Amino acid sequence: MMVKRAVLAYSGGLDTSVAVRWMIENLGVEVVAVACDVGQGGDWDALVARARAAGAVETVVVDCREEFARDYCFPVLRANALYENQYPLVSALSRPLITKHLVAAAREFGADAVAHGCTGKGNDQVRFEVSTRALAPDLEIIAPVREWGMTREDCIAYAARHEIPVTASREKLYSIDDNLWGRAIECGEMEDPWAEPPAGVWSMTIPTATAPRELTVSFVAGAPKAIDGTDLAPHELILTMNEIVGSYGWGRLDMVENRRVGIKSRETYEAPGALALMMAHRDLESLTLERDLQRQKIALEHRYAELVYDGLWFSPLKEALDAFVESSQRYVTGEVRLKLEPGRCIVVGRRSEYSLYDYGLATYDAADSFEHGDSEGFVKLWGLGIQTWAAKQGQRHD
Ligand code: ARG
Repeated sequence: MMVKRAVLAYSGGLDTSVAVRWMIENLGVEVVAVACDVGQGGDWDALVARARAAGAVETVVVDCREEFARDYCFPVLRANALYENQYPLVSALSRPLITKHLVAAAREFGADAVAHGCTGKGNDQVRFEVSTRALAPDLEIIAPVREWGMTREDCIAYAARHEIPVTASREKLYSIDDNLWGRAIECGEMEDPWAEPPAGVWSMTIPTATAPRELTVSFVAGAPKAIDGTDLAPHELILTMNEIVGSYGWGRLDMVENRRVGIKSRETYEAPGALALMMAHRDLESLTLERDLQRQKIALEHRYAELVYDGLWFSPLKEALDAFVESSQRYVTGEVRLKLEPGRCIVVGRRSEYSLYDYGLATYDAADSFEHGDSEGFVKLWGLGIQTWAAKQGQRHD
């Protein structure tokens, strides 16, 4: 099929700006630039002007912040999904949302292809393309950066030749992707996994606060609703958490992770709000989830993270796991107290009207209501199989 018009996931950076013109010149297509605001900040007017200068027939800017927070960040929070037990899926989370808006724009502007500016080495190409296949299998996919074989210098020269106003410098130190949920910083000296990330890479977690403080996060059915008693819209709540927790210099990650394409990669992240919210949420679950439900949920959480990381946001297993997570959250309502000190964020208290914590059962004081005598037979039967095994086959330690 000959592609006539493509919608491009446009960031306003060097690569996607060059991609607009490159696709027009080399593939003979019209380009609709679609920029999604997922909280990364930036000058949107300048972005629109740049897309136009590059030759885009249309430029669409979509404010996705609330949708991103509510429909993407919060489900991941409810699932306590951390890839390889650390990474809260910052970039992995925005790609399916951006793809959804690309597909919508493709329909609106009659495009027959979706294009992205990812390289062939990363995860993001996987997420854009698999999400597109899931939502709109009829659309073609174009990945100019994977094809063109231009260096960074070539791209800068190409932009200059075509009078595309980019601000890129010859020396690009880091590859950064950020949104409401956090920030990923790669490359530069960090490509040596032994080298400590330079202080200059951090921006959301610069320590400025010195006085300790507490913060109460209220959850309703697993979704955060208020901070210190003030209700906030989902994106405002995440932003507020980022600001407060980040000011204590907490929320950084430095890890070597397994990419979908088989490469081990040294990655640094900062996600103060996401990590603090997840810590609080997991804690509230410990108070409100029945034991087997909690254990099973813990067993499924990493699977959920893998699916999101691997580009399977729109997939039947992810949908089924979402149903499980949603059902599990019915009583995850209550409050968690966080304590912040420079470089530290910890849970210091939790409460819920649905708490399964029973003081009478837990206490060692006079109020103890636990039937001590019941334990004798229970523990005996619990250990019966082991006793039988030990007598016949077990290794003796005497
Ligand atoms: N490694 C992370 C992931 O795969 C972050 C990727 C960020 N992208 C970037 N252009 N720096 O989700």
